[in-house]
Amino acid sequence: MKEKIDKLLNEIAEFRTEKKEELEQYRLKYLSKKGLIPSLFGDFKLVAPDLRKEVGQALNSLKNKAQEKFNDLQSQIEDKATDDQKVGDLTLPVDFEELGSRHPLSIVRNKIIDIFARIGFTVSEGPEIEDDFHNFTALNFPEEHPARDMQDTFFIEKNPDLALRTHTSSVQVRVMENTQPPIRTISPGRVFRNEAISARAHCIFHQVEGLYINKNVSFADLKQTLIYFARELFGEHTKIRLRPSYFPFTEPSAEMDISCNICGGKGCNICKYTGWVEILGCGMVDPNVLENCGIDSKEYTGFAFGMGIERITMLKYQIDDIRLFFENDKRFLKQFKSAL
Ligand code: DAH
Repeated sequence: MKEKIDKLLNEIAEFRTEKKEELEQYRLKYLSKKGLIPSLFGDFKLVAPDLRKEVGQALNSLKNKAQEKFNDLQSQIEDKATDDQKVGDLTLPVDFEELGSRHPLSIVRNKIIDIFARIGFTVSEGPEIEDDFHNFTALNFPEEHPARDMQDTFFIEKNPDLALRTHTSSVQVRVMENTQPPIRTISPGRVFRNEAISARAHCIFHQVEGLYINKNVSFADLKQTLIYFARELFGEHTKIRLRPSYFPFTEPSAEMDISCNICGGKGCNICKYTGWVEILGCGMVDPNVLENCGIDSKEYTGFAFGMGIERITMLKYQIDDIRLFFENDKRFLKQFKSAL
């Protein structure tokens, strides 16, 4: 009896197959009612009483091993069958999988990068967690400026010298610290302000900064660059208007409006019936800023500008709520499939 059990144990351990039919033969041979293992159980009554315990255990273990082997092989064969099915008939039409599309903010950012690349601007980036020097001090913000206020800026509690950058102007500083003129670069990126979220404002948004530093750069260069940009992005009939303004890091400073791209300047609710919409801030880089960044302000002059990508995207595609950019609702996002 013992020998028979050992023989079957060996056979079972060595048995291999990937074929359903062969596995069925195995089942019939060892496990079915008339198979070898049940017939050994039939012989069990002939075993001498003092050996019954030992033989009984050996028989049970043989039966379990044979059944386990069968189960394992069966599931391997089934898995392989479903894998094969997956490849299936290659001539059938494929399941439809929806294609994604680029986010509208990325579309507009890429367009802006393209427009400036054509006139020689490189792209530069800086950190989103910025120190006070790069975000404020080097840019000529006085110590008591309200933008440094807790209400506007997200400070890092553990280190009050660090904050989430409130604008991409900080990248100007980093570029000027590391490069001598001529400098011609734009810096797209995320910025953060402690604002209540509404249809018009969000605590996270995106900007593109522009910086040009060289010998004899004048306000006329700034104006011509901005006219070129506005026409490329909003169409060749776009007009611009510069209104005097104030920024600590530029002197003189201006805000730029474009003729409303919705009504063509006639007046509508987007431009609040003025015919103009504001799109960016700009000016001649303040000599203090150049000096703070190690550039000789007697030799070099330059201009800078900064714009919000959300605002420009809202104008360009007539989007009336800034929150749509951050909700990731596919019904909104897929409307920009053809805007690439
Ligand atoms: N940093 C300004 C802001 O966030 C925008 C800006 C204005 C950037 C004038 C400039 C500039 O480079 O010259 O509101």
